[in-house]
Amino acid sequence: MERLYAPYESKVMSAEAAAALVKAGMTVGFSGFTMVGYPKAVPMAIAAAGTAKDLTVLTGASVGQPLDGALVEAGLVAKRFPYQTNKSMRNAINAGTVLYADQHLSHTAAFLNRGSGPKIDVAIIECSAVTAEGLIPAAAVGNSETFVHRADKVIVELNTTLPLELNGMHDIYSPSGLEGGPVPIVDVLDRVGTPYIPCPAEKLAAIVVTDTAGDCPKFKPADADSQAIADHIVEFLKAEVAAGRQPASLSPLQSGVGSVANAVLSGLKRGGFSGLRMFTEVIQNSALELIRDGVIAGASCTSLSLSENAQRELFDNIGFYRDRVVLRPQEVSNFPGLVRRLGLIAMNTPIECDIYGNVNSTHVMGTKIMNGIGGSGDFARNAGLSIFATSSVAKGGLISCIVPMCAHVDHTEHDVQVIVTEQGVADLRWKSPRERAETIIKNCSHPDYRPMLREYYQEALALGGHTPHVLTKALSWHQRYLDTGSMKL
Ligand code: COA
Repeated sequence: MERLYAPYESKVMSAEAAAALVKAGMTVGFSGFTMVGYPKAVPMAIAAAGTAKDLTVLTGASVGQPLDGALVEAGLVAKRFPYQTNKSMRNAINAGTVLYADQHLSHTAAFLNRGSGPKIDVAIIECSAVTAEGLIPAAAVGNSETFVHRADKVIVELNTTLPLELNGMHDIYSPSGLEGGPVPIVDVLDRVGTPYIPCPAEKLAAIVVTDTAGDCPKFKPADADSQAIADHIVEFLKAEVAAGRQPASLSPLQSGVGSVANAVLSGLKRGGFSGLRMFTEVIQNSALELIRDGVIAGASCTSLSLSENAQRELFDNIGFYRDRVVLRPQEVSNFPGLVRRLGLIAMNTPIECDIYGNVNSTHVMGTKIMNGIGGSGDFARNAGLSIFATSSVAKGGLISCIVPMCAHVDHTEHDVQVIVTEQGVADLRWKSPRERAETIIKNCSHPDYRPMLREYYQEALALGGHTPHVLTKALSWHQRYLDTGSMKL
């Protein structure tokens, strides 16, 4: 297979020449999801030129320093959607110099295709190949199909470090681009679209050939808390199988980002599960290992977010993984109808949970954005089983991750079925708020904070109500942390 369709060779130009196509005030849709498949040379050239101010920047999800960092540090970003993790971007958002709206990751494409969002002036897409039919993405799809479809102009960053054998791994299909009708996916490996992003020749304004591999995501090794959380989840899922609520090979799994998610998947192998399937947003290292070992039989995702070694394993054995992994647009990987149809087991990581089971995934101390809601809402509300797992404390014990009231709510008590910490499991299904509070405090809170939570709850109970609270004290733990550096009394 050829890297570049020969008639398009005339469109090849330097990153600087391509960057000049991006003008001040434009809306730019960039490829990229969880630090994979994002363009690097063109955004860095836009930043170096410094003229394209007041940009509205859209991506799939998180992208690296050469994109978010470079553009925001050059003072070029006015608005940002729908998810970010870059330190400079986060600081600018929290300072109010960049206006950010955090969206459910299945929503961005759906809303753009219904015409409610900004007009996309330029799409800048990293690709492994450009064929006569269209663009072959990198190891992530994200919102690229929608950006290409809706943009006036498309700039391709053709990355020669990506294997050509990625061709055939993608399944490009847009539910919101069609006039209704169900998405015809009934199992994780079903293919319903094309292996390429359709892109008419007249839209393709520039092709920039690069050989920049970019930084791979780094994962913290699983610590004792992550291992304990993983063990609790495995035992819980075994009990669900024993009770006849899950098949022996479990419903398809969705697993969030980070080290807890990695540890949980490794735990499933130790727990003796096999024939597993994943219908998830991101595949991380541990899932790739389980695919290699045959524990996971098939997986659907929008990004393969892997460390350097795991990425080498993928690229060296791409034929093997292409038969077992489908890369989809995030509008499909996170499609609520499919999450419900497949009855997923959704496992995500919160910042904090409250005693009634509300979850904050995004705002530290209720005001400062960390990353964004990502796909956690797409999955949690619609899953067959929705689990949130976190350490019971953060910052060396100075913060309790179980609090009287979340200082910001992303997932309401209605979307949270099970909470797991290293202390234990709170199964909240069919429980009233009062039963939930007792279970969460008893099973999930850290012993340092359990008496304080009990005292708060008793005081609240005395005031009565369906969901008892002492409103003057409900957020006092957060205020105490801001005042003293600790939530402890
Ligand atoms: N209050 C303040 N800070 C907290 C906290 C709390 N209750 N809980 C965790 N943190 C801090 C940690 O101290 C750490 O800070 P550091 O970067 O300065 O070390 C940071 O948050 C990350 O926490 P960590 O324990 O390393 O967990 P993680 O890497 O698993 O990330 C989230 C946790 C919540 C930030 C992350 O999972 C996230 O962004 N989730 C929302 C999106 C999502 O769910 N995506 C998956 C959908 S498919």
